[in-house]
Amino acid sequence: MKIGILTSGGDCSGLNAVIRAAGISLFNNLKGVQLVGIPDGYGGLIRGEGELLGRDDLAGILDKGGTVLGSSRQPFKQMEVVGDDGESKLAKMVRNYKAMGLDCLIAIGGAGTHKNAALLKREGCNVVGVPKTIDNDIYGTDVTFGFQTAVEVATDCMDRIRTTAESHARVMLVEIMGNKAGWLALHSGIAAGADAILIPEIPFYEDRLCAFVASKKSTGARSVIIAVAEGAHIRAEAGLKRKKRSFARAELNESTVTPHLAEYIEEKTGYAARTSVLGYVQRGGTPCAYDRLLCTRLGEAAADFVAEGRFGVTVAVKGNRLVANELEDVAGRYKYVTRGDRMIKCAKELGIFLGE
Ligand code: F6P
Repeated sequence: MKIGILTSGGDCSGLNAVIRAAGISLFNNLKGVQLVGIPDGYGGLIRGEGELLGRDDLAGILDKGGTVLGSSRQPFKQMEVVGDDGESKLAKMVRNYKAMGLDCLIAIGGAGTHKNAALLKREGCNVVGVPKTIDNDIYGTDVTFGFQTAVEVATDCMDRIRTTAESHARVMLVEIMGNKAGWLALHSGIAAGADAILIPEIPFYEDRLCAFVASKKSTGARSVIIAVAEGAHIRAEAGLKRKKRSFARAELNESTVTPHLAEYIEEKTGYAARTSVLGYVQRGGTPCAYDRLLCTRLGEAAADFVAEGRFGVTVAVKGNRLVANELEDVAGRYKYVTRGDRMIKCAKELGIFLGE
């Protein structure tokens, strides 16, 4: 069998651990298997590029951040658009899949990657997905790899920020990635003992946030740590479509609500407020032990599915089990924090302000 493997979309810690586990399991359990590493995600498949990987290529990468294969974003909306050469990106991928003689493609990636994988399945290619993202927003799986490492990083950053906030008696707004989902801000915020956590799923009242900050300060707190998910927005903007919100912000030269919020808090409460955008540090570096283990299990399970001829699925975590979800059931759907989530209840009961 000839198996292609690629990593697609925004990277995160643990991609190499999945490549390694999938590769080693395939080599150990499928006689005569060939593994083709496709560079730069679907970009490589569109260009028809791939190189045979051997066991040596998989050595020493378990704890390496990034991806040895490279990655790229290939927007779903453009996949079926016919280019100047008369062929769509999807058609190119299908043509190259066949030309390379692939029997299956292991596509490691997030929500966008799964949507594209479902298109390939529709066109008759055999695909097995593996759910990756620091956002933890893939539908149908309890957890995605890369998330826990990002939680660790964001938590550590907030711990550090708290010490300087204490020294200067400041309000600190820490902006955390997560796209449209609040998982990363919620989990790291609770782990770091943040005073307030603002997530996209619960649009917040600015005035109530200021009242909360003022009451914290008046009862003796020197610092106030506010974990702000990058997708968080004020209640007044909740009715607006995400694109409209982004346009309105772009006019103010801002991409998120955080800078505005710092100014607003200073103005309304009189307390010094600063912002810290964590950014890509949450995606880089060594995966934590939890993620290494998860990646190893996911990679091994993907290899199992390939060996069993169980194609057109993605590996998913359900409780402590690994299961297969059909790609078309996952594609285009997301997993968001709900008000009924146990973590929300936990945060509320600990007195963390959640925006309302
Ligand atoms: O999906 C992962 C993620 O890091 C999001 O949290 C963030 O919104 C986005 O990717 C950033 O994307 P890019 O790498 O294209 O800047």
